[in-house]
Amino acid sequence: MLSETDFIANSISSDIYQGIFTWSAPSNIALVKYWGKKQDQIPANPSISFTLNNCKTITKLGFSKRHFDKLSENNSTFSFDLLFEGKPKEEFKPKIQKFFERIEKYCPYLKNYHFTIDTQNTFPHSSGIASSASGMAALAMNIMSLEKELNPEMSADFFYKKASFLARLGSGSACRSIKGAVVAWGEHQEIKESSNLFGVAFSPELHSVFHNYQDTILLVDKGEKQVSSTVGHDLMHNHPFAEQRFLQAPQNLSKLKLVLENGNLDEFIKIVESEALTLHAMMMTSMPYFILMKPNTLEILNKIWKYRNETKIPVCFTLDAGANVHVLYPEQYKNETLQFIKDELVGYCQNGQYICDEIGFGSQLILEN
Ligand code: DP6
Repeated sequence: MLSETDFIANSISSDIYQGIFTWSAPSNIALVKYWGKKQDQIPANPSISFTLNNCKTITKLGFSKRHFDKLSENNSTFSFDLLFEGKPKEEFKPKIQKFFERIEKYCPYLKNYHFTIDTQNTFPHSSGIASSASGMAALAMNIMSLEKELNPEMSADFFYKKASFLARLGSGSACRSIKGAVVAWGEHQEIKESSNLFGVAFSPELHSVFHNYQDTILLVDKGEKQVSSTVGHDLMHNHPFAEQRFLQAPQNLSKLKLVLENGNLDEFIKIVESEALTLHAMMMTSMPYFILMKPNTLEILNKIWKYRNETKIPVCFTLDAGANVHVLYPEQYKNETLQFIKDELVGYCQNGQYICDEIGFGSQLILEN
């Protein structure tokens, strides 16, 4: 079992002066939700997600070794420029600064370099789709590419584990955007090699019904969320139902593990929809309480239930920390479900917008140094 100290890069065997890497990393959608955490981004309960394929962040990391001419000049600060779609984006810098501070202990070489981070998303800006998971994952992959140059003997297994470990320190759910179609994060007795420190790809064979599983994301509200996930997680401290929730999530994960192997979609739907509504129930019952769903979110959920009842097509929903609805269904029902979405659900989406996505496999190297 790897512990935190195993991720400290304390010896560097090679030197590199400059270079550029580019990685893409996808978004992911949790089936069993992570909501509540302890110190140092340790989850209060294990979670599991589908990795997406089309919603991604693409990040180019340029780096060059810094020169410290005078004795008075020391490398006590991080040095980086942040660009979004090629243009400087000052507002994003504090987030990256904080990320660097959190990971410095594990990547002590960071202050030796000046970085140019150029990032873009494949999904529309402010679509309400969180870019923190894909963004932090893409940046973590790039940093690990640099570390691999510094320590070329690093194994591929360690490379991906540490990338997930670093991404987690940026944003918890980001650790599930590194590698694998279905990724579990958080210790769980029945999930092999599961860890609170990084995500692990679900290793039993995934039932064929989940291959190319579809996720059509209905953009109900693209505005800024009133309450960030980080604040929401914090409200699980002293939450009246937290204890019960932290017992329920691992039980749901046990049940879902079986379902992912046996393909029982009735069970899948029950677990996944219940998890989504429980997440929002936690928000409604915290102090202060808040609601992130919108009236149109509820309209959509009711339409999905009605359609499923009438057609027996196993389409269901999940929600993240916002008003958007993820519509999940097997690829075999793609045509009729998309028709249903166009006929009955698009009217509830802001500007009629939705994004067609499906299960993907994780981050990808686009450009090597
Ligand atoms: C509702 O990973 O965004 O999407 O760790 O504070 O960055 P931080 O939170 P974040 O929380 C995600 C919450 C969720 C559920 C999930 O993805 O499991």
